[in-house]
Amino acid sequence: MNVKETATRISTLILFFCVLICSGTFDESPMVGDDTNHCSDDEKCSPDAKDKKPILIWWTKDLFPHDRTYKYHEITCKKGACVTSIDRALKNDPATRAFVFYGTDLRADDLPLPRKPWDEWALFHEESPKNNWMLTYEDALSHFISDLRDWTDSPAMPVEEKNRLQNEKGLAPIVYVQSDCYTPSDRETYMKELMKHISIDSYGRCLNNRKMPDEIDGFIKLHSPEYYKFLAQYKFNIAFENAICNDYMTEKLFRPFEVGAIPVVMGSPLVKDWMPNEKSAIFVNDFKHPKDLAEFIKYLDSNDTEYSEYMKYKDPKHITNKFLHKMLEERPWRVLGEWDKVNFGHRMYADFECHICDRVIERQEALRAHKSDPTKNPPPPPRMATKEHLECPEPTVSLETGKKVNKSLNYWEGLYEARAMKQMLLAGETNTTKFQSKYLKRLTDKYDKWVV
Ligand SMILES: *[C@@H]1O[C@H](CO)[C@@H](O)[C@H](O)[C@H]1NC(C)=O
Ligand SMILES: *[C@@H]1O[C@H](CO)[C@@H](O)[C@H](O)[C@H]1NC(C)=O
Ligand SMILES: *[C@@H]1O[C@H](CO)[C@@H](O)[C@H](O)[C@H]1NC(C)=O
Repeated sequence: MNVKETATRISTLILFFCVLICSGTFDESPMVGDDTNHCSDDEKCSPDAKDKKPILIWWTKDLFPHDRTYKYHEITCKKGACVTSIDRALKNDPATRAFVFYGTDLRADDLPLPRKPWDEWALFHEESPKNNWMLTYEDALSHFISDLRDWTDSPAMPVEEKNRLQNEKGLAPIVYVQSDCYTPSDRETYMKELMKHISIDSYGRCLNNRKMPDEIDGFIKLHSPEYYKFLAQYKFNIAFENAICNDYMTEKLFRPFEVGAIPVVMGSPLVKDWMPNEKSAIFVNDFKHPKDLAEFIKYLDSNDTEYSEYMKYKDPKHITNKFLHKMLEERPWRVLGEWDKVNFGHRMYADFECHICDRVIERQEALRAHKSDPTKNPPPPPRMATKEHLECPEPTVSLETGKKVNKSLNYWEGLYEARAMKQMLLAGETNTTKFQSKYLKRLTDKYDKWVV
């Protein structure tokens, strides 16, 4: 593929990947005595579903990537076919093998219990652990997803115009808009220090020092073209994520690229892999102290030639990152089907669905092989997700100031809930609504004792 074709492709497909996490399957095997090799014997573990295709149930049904007027959908994946449905009544069907949950909506008092040893639980999530603290502890397998958007379709505001706005409207070089002021990444401590060294217009609830223009105030309007135009007036946009996780990159990062500004990035350790080229963003981690970052931004603010170097990504021929091109061309998460034409946004869910279907089929094949020749074919090991799959380390401070990490009540509640959920599963509980009274014991146990 030549450069021109690639560029055209980039400008039509466009960027971005985003928001992350999601995952494969996590399975625990509470009901089988032999806890290292659950389902080591096909007959003992999984019911005979004869020639039926494995069934996947979307326990969180809102994300079901198919037409809901049909009760079932057959999907064809790499390894074979599965049936997918939102019908919870299929829970006990002998062919049912997997349940899909959305991270934010995962609730321990609404699970498909009793959990059978052959039930695969698959977790999909696009938010940081902040949306469901339990997932900080709960096992979750990570799997990369993407969403594409066009960042080259609107040119950046010329730097001369940005300079004029700074002089005439008194705009700062940097804009910051944030309403969530207590985050696992502790971005607020860093921001507070940064603001001591360089002028920043902060319009959100956190460290606010400037009033948002009336015409773009309010959440809905934050996605409007007016809001993008508003951000485009600034040379630099703060792009600090609420949590630092490998696969967590959000609109905070790609919006500056769309509007034509330089993102000042605090976020995923892998973020540099995804940049359009080597001079398009500034990374907090490249500087020892916010003061040094401020000096560098001031320099770019004063040197229009150098600033314009950072704006070159707006021209597709300057998107030189080969990895990014490759990901855009391959887009391995992309699945096309009939429904896809009417349901574009759900493509990634369908890909996830096939990911699970393929793993289920692989497992069944391995079990069959084991059954036919146990000495030659070892049983497939259980696949249990670990903390590393989520790749979101525990919250830390963003800057050494003597301030302690804010492990909020929610954070500790998450730990407590995760432990209670595990106990519930190990006990082989059949009634999920007993979670609170029997396992979590919210009313009798105090969370406070966890808080340090
Ligand atoms: C401005 O940046 C350019 C490189 O883009 C450099 O050659 C030039 O020396 C810089 N000017 C100043 C005053 O630092
Ligand atoms: C810690 O975070 C919570 C929100 O999660 C907030 O309400 C609380 O005020 C914070 N505590 C401190 C000391 O900053
Ligand atoms: C499940 O437990 C709840 C109380 O937590 C109870 O009200 C309900 O009747 C139980 N359901 C069954 C089927 O036992």
